[in-house]
Amino acid sequence: LFGYENRASRIDFEPIAPTTMDEIVLPDGYTYNVVAAYGDVINQRGDTFGFNCDFTMYLPIQGSQRGLLLVNHEYTNPLFVEGDVSKGYSPKQIESLLYNQGLAIIEVYQDPKTKEWKMDTTSKYARRISGLAPFEMVGPARGTAAVNGATTVQGTFANCSGGATLWGTVLSCEENWERTAGTAGLDTTHYGWVVEVDPFDKDDKYFKPRKHTALGRFHHENCAMGLSKDRRVVVYSGDDKRDACVYKYISKGKYNEAKGKENSKLLEDGTLYAADMAAGKWVALTIENVREAAKGKDNESALLNKFQTQADVLVNAHDAAILLGATPTDRPEDIEISPIDNTIFIAHTNNSNRGNFHGHITRFFEKNDDLGSLEFSFEIFAVGGTQSGFSAPDNLDFDRHGNLWTVTDISTSSLNKGAYEPFKNNGMFVIPTTGDKKGQAFQFASGPVESELTGPWWTPNQKTLFLSVQHPGEQTRDINNPTSMWPHRPGDTMPRPAVVAIKGF
Ligand code: FEO
Ligand code: CA
Ligand code: CA
Ligand code: CA
Repeated sequence: LFGYENRASRIDFEPIAPTTMDEIVLPDGYTYNVVAAYGDVINQRGDTFGFNCDFTMYLPIQGSQRGLLLVNHEYTNPLFVEGDVSKGYSPKQIESLLYNQGLAIIEVYQDPKTKEWKMDTTSKYARRISGLAPFEMVGPARGTAAVNGATTVQGTFANCSGGATLWGTVLSCEENWERTAGTAGLDTTHYGWVVEVDPFDKDDKYFKPRKHTALGRFHHENCAMGLSKDRRVVVYSGDDKRDACVYKYISKGKYNEAKGKENSKLLEDGTLYAADMAAGKWVALTIENVREAAKGKDNESALLNKFQTQADVLVNAHDAAILLGATPTDRPEDIEISPIDNTIFIAHTNNSNRGNFHGHITRFFEKNDDLGSLEFSFEIFAVGGTQSGFSAPDNLDFDRHGNLWTVTDISTSSLNKGAYEPFKNNGMFVIPTTGDKKGQAFQFASGPVESELTGPWWTPNQKTLFLSVQHPGEQTRDINNPTSMWPHRPGDTMPRPAVVAIKGF
């Protein structure tokens, strides 16, 4: 199926043990080098790499030797970036906050001699598309009252994970925008969307960076794109919040490969659905359905007032989904479509509200294996805890053998304490999806102190794995005494989030 080698039960490395070392620990035979760290100059203009890198996506220029790396920067830590904000953000600090979030596009290549991956700062493509860059609003909510009439907005924000489109552009997801947008006094109707950019459009002139309102506004973790059997575009997305839903969008029109990047229009006209897991149905978030569901509710008039147009439904997607009976779940994070069998893997990281401390990975089976189906069944594929060895699954990625790779995100305030003590630092695990080791987790990596490993992405030949190291030393309270010094560069006085390249595969 799909040309994938079915060696899923084979694990090619000796698993590591959990550790509290301030280092990326890998199995024997594997090494890494830092490709870009916070503050590094990325181009001839002097633009710099942002803070707290997350999603990474490699776009080939010369196969698996040279390419662009699109990197999300999720949030900043004032202690390391803006300075003292205890009395509120100054205009300069807001600019720093916005600049150090958003996207970085860097050019990378593998040095033929040393095999290390390096940045090419002479790149004509390398640039930032930050919280200060202009974005077009597209889709049904553009220019509506629900977004205060906005047609163009400033910046992208809180970019967590993302996904590839079928036409060579990149989707990046705005997740926890409330976390800092409120404190810094920013207009939160601008955020919570899926944005699309073309890394190869060097001045962002031909393919304007855009926000896709048809995909709804919520705490978008990621986007996983595939095709229905009749070739409509399907996009799965998690809403990373406690008691939030799993979504999928289905385009009205069909994918036409010959149209290239014009296929982006397919993300402007379609239907957003949320999963009702008890009924095994995808419920459509349409204004008609929402207003019908509001009838007879205690707060009917408030609901009918809130939901007057389709734009209102998209802007308040979570409330609409719950009203329509979609299932609240345990923080749905990353989603991947299995390249082996088209089943859908969803990381549910945890949910303290419901006593789910270690999370689990859910697997949806769409009816007839058709991503366009409106019915599905599901299983709990793997469960976090001391027995499986992982806790708090977050990003997911498949390798060519059909193994599922997952990174963990135990919050840094809980690491190495109580129920989380046995797991030590956050890490990376490989879980076969078929064969006799199906569902078992094998630890491949451990991250530096108080970090989270995020955004795993392979080169096409799967000889290099790119990975972000986010928030090392996050619990630091005294800047002169950081809890981590990773990546331990000579002369550095603070830890730096960075993207690394792992080799040895
Ligand atoms: Fe930014 Fe849901 O992790
Ligand atoms: Ca995440
Ligand atoms: Ca992923
Ligand atoms: Ca997370």
